[in-house]
Amino acid sequence: MRQKLAAGNWKMNGTADALSELNELTQGYPEASVDILICPPATLIDRASEAAAGSAVAIGGQDCHANVTGAHTGDISAEMLRDAGANYVIIGHSERRDDHGETSELIAAKATAAYNAGLIAVVCCGEHLSTREDGKTLEHIGTQIAESLPDTANADTTVIAYEPVWAIGTGLTPTLEQIAEVHDFIRAELVKRFGEKIGNGIRLLYGGSVKPANAAEIFATSNVDGALVGGASLKAADFSAIIDAL
Ligand code: G3H
Repeated sequence: MRQKLAAGNWKMNGTADALSELNELTQGYPEASVDILICPPATLIDRASEAAAGSAVAIGGQDCHANVTGAHTGDISAEMLRDAGANYVIIGHSERRDDHGETSELIAAKATAAYNAGLIAVVCCGEHLSTREDGKTLEHIGTQIAESLPDTANADTTVIAYEPVWAIGTGLTPTLEQIAEVHDFIRAELVKRFGEKIGNGIRLLYGGSVKPANAAEIFATSNVDGALVGGASLKAADFSAIIDAL
């Protein structure tokens, strides 16, 4: 039985004022039957970790460097995230792949850095609309998964988020059949590569315009173990409604 996970990615949103939303969330979930994660901007991680202490809400980073230390101006290592109180890190979000030219090989190196620091890596994959229109979604996802996951990935250290790029922040979502098709495919690929135990244990999140109104039907879809939520994670009330639908 895979533990459900509701993950919020605040992206480049939030200054100290946003901690009031986090406080509202942590007060609502001193404990929970599902896992809850908020990934604020790096500038808020230490304060968010303090605010979330003693609640069911875990804190994560949105990216990390593949190296532990060094001359990498502006970058943050997995060790630093851990030191600031994070337990998770999102790796290979499409906004990192597209805005910063991150390759799947680099993402695998970042995932390894996350494991070495004791962080759970939320490894993202997803197709652009043109890939879907060309009928190449599964081929594309298969390649991304194969190249972005280190051989050492396992169910304790790794979560996968499927996020169709065209569904992110657009209000568009795939049909439930389309979500199931990709999630079932990822599950089969994981079992093929890692065997039954690990392959069936790795959690698969859906991401892309998840809202309180569509969360329940998405969570009822085959091989969906939770969500990676952007916009609707910024307000505690909306994100709580999504958590409660899990
Ligand atoms: O990481 C989160 C996703 O990119 C989804 O963002 O819920 O705003 O569409 P969204």
